[in-house]
Amino acid sequence: MTLPKRVTLWEMGARDGLQNERARVSADDKVRYIDLLSQSGLRWIEATSFVRPTAIPQLADAAEVFARIRKAPGVRYPVLVPNIKGYERAKAAGADTIAVFTAASERFTQANIRMTIDESLVAFSDVIKRAKADGLFVRGYVSTAFGSPFGDAVTPRDVVRVSVALAEMGCDELSIGDTIGVGVPSQVETLIPPLARAVGLDRIAMHFHDTRGTALANIYASLQQGVHAFDASSGGLGGCPYAPGATGNVGTEDVLYLLNGLGIETGVDIAKVRDASRFIATVLDHPLTSKTYQALEATL
Ligand code: COA
Ligand code: ZN
Repeated sequence: MTLPKRVTLWEMGARDGLQNERARVSADDKVRYIDLLSQSGLRWIEATSFVRPTAIPQLADAAEVFARIRKAPGVRYPVLVPNIKGYERAKAAGADTIAVFTAASERFTQANIRMTIDESLVAFSDVIKRAKADGLFVRGYVSTAFGSPFGDAVTPRDVVRVSVALAEMGCDELSIGDTIGVGVPSQVETLIPPLARAVGLDRIAMHFHDTRGTALANIYASLQQGVHAFDASSGGLGGCPYAPGATGNVGTEDVLYLLNGLGIETGVDIAKVRDASRFIATVLDHPLTSKTYQALEATL
């Protein structure tokens, strides 16, 4: 098998990461963090989310942060949107890329967005239609693709069904999430071939959390299946407040170390990502979980 020559990374730290931090991070510090990430060569930096502010108070300053970040040429700053109201706020802020989100687990979807999966698909079809008509890039998150925090069963068939529905509505890309970090490579090998047949390999990004230390193994298994887009969060920040026990996304530095070692191009400078992580670590005042980040800090 040949591995992809080039991989695209989608940086999650400022959204998936910060939404799960207890500390109040000021808008100034969020802007500085994103501006540092913008200098690393990352092309997709998810910036914030226009969800209900009382649902995620950590990101209630979305409009201010989005307005103030220095938009680097060639870099996109996607924002998460849960409904039409969120879409209107994102559009007013000037977003050119949005992400909508549902899940493969029924119970998780109800806890997270207070809808059934089918209701969420109906609700999002309007958002996606509006966004495509306005010329935006639209990503769809399919969370809990490898297991649910509430113990309900999730099968590859569930993941394919939701992914196909989002693709048919016009999502340009699907991010398939192991929200609670329970997946292992054999699950990746079972899921990706039918998913790729259904929506096309070029539309798939994989989103792993490293809760049980299996994220890099799952990324390697995904690379072997030809996947060439991955989500990661600088320093390993992240989690989801509606997924009990969820910890951070796989660290961007960890993914970069693996890809660099495999000779796979990303265009991203690991030292610059480390600089952004180092800054946000001082703000959060707790150690970051990315092993490669820790190793870089220990050796310099
Ligand atoms: N932005 C701002 N306010 C919003 C909003 C949005 N995107 N969506 C809803 N609201 C407001 C409504 O205006 C309404 O306000 P009011 O009471 O002052 O009139 C109130 O919230 C309730 O609206 P409703 O449509 O009933 O929403 P809800 O309470 O059922 O919440 C979601 C549904 C999806 C909007 C909410 O659960 C949410 O934002 N979840 C996000 C969860 C998340 O981000 N998880 C992490 C990502 S994995
Ligand atoms: Zn996530």
